[in-house]
Formats: sequence, C-alpha cells, structure tokens
Amino acid sequence: MQDPSDYIQQHKERFLNELINLLKIPSVSADSAHSQDVINMAEAVAAALSEAGCDEVEVCETSGYPIVYGEKIIGPDLPTVLVYGHYDVQPPDPLELWDTPPFEPVIKETELHPDGAIFARGACDDKGQMYMHVKALEYMVRNNDLPCNVKFMIEGEEEVGSPSLVTFVKENREKLKNDIILISDTGMIAADVPSITTGLRGLSYVEVAVTGPNRDLHSGLYGGAVANPINILAKMIASLHDENNHITIPGFYDKVHELSEEERQAMAEAPFSLEAYKKHLDISAVYGEKGYTTNERNSIRPTLDVNGIWGGYTGEGAKTVIPSKAYAKISMRLVPDQDWHEITELFTRHFTSIAPDGVKVEVTPHHGGQAYVTPIDHIGYRAASEAYETTFGKTPIPQRSGGSIPIVSLFEQELDSKTILMGFGLDSDAIHSPNEHYGIRNYLKGIETIPYFYSAFTRMKESE
Ligand code: BES
Ligand code: MN
Ligand code: MN
Repeated sequence: MQDPSDYIQQHKERFLNELINLLKIPSVSADSAHSQDVINMAEAVAAALSEAGCDEVEVCETSGYPIVYGEKIIGPDLPTVLVYGHYDVQPPDPLELWDTPPFEPVIKETELHPDGAIFARGACDDKGQMYMHVKALEYMVRNNDLPCNVKFMIEGEEEVGSPSLVTFVKENREKLKNDIILISDTGMIAADVPSITTGLRGLSYVEVAVTGPNRDLHSGLYGGAVANPINILAKMIASLHDENNHITIPGFYDKVHELSEEERQAMAEAPFSLEAYKKHLDISAVYGEKGYTTNERNSIRPTLDVNGIWGGYTGEGAKTVIPSKAYAKISMRLVPDQDWHEITELFTRHFTSIAPDGVKVEVTPHHGGQAYVTPIDHIGYRAASEAYETTFGKTPIPQRSGGSIPIVSLFEQELDSKTILMGFGLDSDAIHSPNEHYGIRNYLKGIETIPYFYSAFTRMKESE
C-alpha cells in the first residue's frame, strides 16, 4: 500500500475542522435535555460516513438513540473489518472547572501535546478517535487503497451502558458479520510509546439507598437516639475494604484470574514513572491493594469505588438535621473470569446483610458487563502490531486497560469475533473530566496507522 502521510498532511486542516464541527454538538446521552443534540449527532455521523465513501449508510432507529451503520463492500470473498465507536459523550459538569466551554472546541498546546490538542467534551472519548476511522476510510477509498470490506457501527448510548446495542447486535448478526472488530476508544502509553490495549475490565454498577426514620429529624431532639442513615452508610461503605485494601465481600475474589509471575514481569517492563504519575495528579502517595503495583491495581485487579454519595443538607450555611435517607453510587471494576451478574448478587447479599437494625437498605443494579482480553498471537493483534511498527518505528507494547467497554464481550459472544483495541488517547487527556482534550498528533497518527492495519490484516487473513 502507499504511504498515507502526504494525503493526511494535505488535508490536515479539513480533518481538524470537520472534527471541531462534530465536537460542537453536545451529544450527552445521559441528559434528556440534550436528546435532540444526540439525534443531530447521529445524522452528522451518517453524513460523514457517506462523504467518506460508504455505499450504504443507515440511521437505525432503536428504542433509545439511533445506531449509525455504514458499509463499503468491495468483494464478497474479501475479509471484513467492523469498526465500532460511539458518538455520545459524558456530561460536561462541573462546568466551572473547564477553562473554555466544553462544546466550543479550541486548540491549545500542552506539555504532553506540543503540537496542540483540541479541548472539548468528547475530543478523545470518543468523537476524535471514532472520526480517525472515518478519515482513514476516506483516504483508502480516494486513493484506491481499501483492501477489504468495511462496516461501521457507531452508537449513541455507550456512556450509559449501551442498552439498545444489545438487541441491535442480536437482531443483526448477518448484517454485522465480520472477520475482526476494530475499536479506537482506549489509550496508549505515551505519544511516542505505542501500545495496543489487550484487555478491558468488566463492570458492575449499583446504587444503594439507606432509609432511617420516616422523615428528616431535628438533630438535637433525636440525635444519638436513632440511626443516622448517612453515618450508617459511611460505616457500611468503609467496611467494604479491609486494612490491606482487599474487598471484603464474601466470594468476590473466587473467580479472579491471577496472572503468572511471567505475565506480571512482562507488565512491569512497560515504561512507567511513579513520580511523574503522582506529580501529574498532585498526590503525595498512591493508594491501593497491598501486594500489587500501581499498574496492576488499575488494570488486572478488581476494585470497588464510590462514585457519588449524597443525602441530608448540603445547601448554604448549617441546618441541624438527621436525614431520613442516604444514597451512594458504587462501581466495581471486574477482571476475567468474574461474572458481573454474580458479583452484583454477591454485593447485594453482603450489603443488605451488614445493615444494622433500625435502617432499611435497598440495592438497585444499574448496568454492567464482562471483562475482555485479546490474545497477542491472534492475527488481528499481529496486524495491528505491524501497523504501529510501520508508523511509529517501534513495536507496540501490549497493555491491559482498567477501563470498560462492556459491549466488547458481547460482540465476541454474539458475532464470534475478536476485537482489536487500537487506542490513541493518553491517560492524561482528561476523558470524563473537565478540559478533556485530544492531541492533534495522536489524531493524525491514528488516521495514518489505521490503513496499515487494513492492509496487514487482509494479507494475513488471506494467507491463513
Ligand atoms: N472509552 C471509555 C472506556 C475506556 C477508556 C477504556 C480508556 C479504556 C481506556 C468508554 O467510553 C467508557 O467511558 N466506558 C465506561 C463504561 C460505560 C458502561 C459507561 C467506563 O469505563 O467507565
Ligand atoms: Mn469511550
Ligand atoms: Mn467514556
């Protein structure tokens, strides 16, 4: 195949401007006030796919937000790559912590992005990374360099647990048939240290409610004599980790796949500076499960974290009150071979069993998903590795990620194909946080690397 870098240089400004226009659409799937924006975003993605060279493009209605499907089939006997991505974004709040408004993209230089980065909600997760695939397709189609068939499935509900995608995939097995699934919705070790994500953690997300007295009470008249749901909830949550930061839920670790010494050794070889990590987060020490390194804690070990906790009086000044109710949202990141339904069960049973007399506890499961791993001897991995080697001049490092894309394990189950995670974001790109950004160099490098994947994969698949 030809080297795409000239084409990319020539069209660089347009590639950036097109992404900037997509970033102006506030497609926040969690907030119904933005539902029209999410729908508009689906239309914009569909238009971009047609423009880039897809022959068939559909905005598929679901019971939630639409799934945008596009394809270019050039030969029934050629391999097929299915690209998945999402066009929805996380809510931008807290707004006051953004240096510039989240849906008014600006380009600024940073220490890690000396060539500039685009600042906007969704810049990295996932509009910027998804759009690299659209532009890579444009390059391949316009330069007669598309070696195989390609299908796109871009959804608008990833950030809320992909509720409609499950049915869509089950009902469209034939349409989605493919030889490999390709996703850019993860990260890489550093701008000059390419890596391929070989694993994602699973997830169980629950909400808990503790109810004490039937109404808020004067904390002087009743304080000390009835259970305060916030005090109780805090105590219950604190008891979920022991002094070594192990999770105390009985059975929680029963199915956890422990890594061999060799695997841990290989992980430890990836470049990582604990000092830089702490400095970047402005913390004096890291914190976590005893017996594991920082990189192990955030990728191959399961976790339990409170994402939000509320109740009682939080307004201005002081109000003396014992609240009737207290709430928390809790996420558990899971690893192979933990089953998220089973973990949700274990949590619910344990959490209700530790409630003291005098309060009622309710656990409501939200979404979840299974963990996922890609073996590094799979041809999809080998093709990706070759692609990075060509564009970065270095062999990429396999890296298990701590994040979750729950739908990936479902793809394997329903479509019987493996997923290759070619992520180009950096952990410091502030996804889900204020001032999310995506490096221009990462964006362009992605567009350049993707066509090499197609070429290597087609060659390897055909000689299999
Ligand atoms: N793109 C992320 C997941 C991700 C980011 C994986 C970086 C690996 C590295 C995705 O959009 C996401 O945010 N997933 C959620 C789960 C989802 C069910 C809301 C997550 O990981 O919290
Ligand atoms: Mn994402
Ligand atoms: Mn996300």
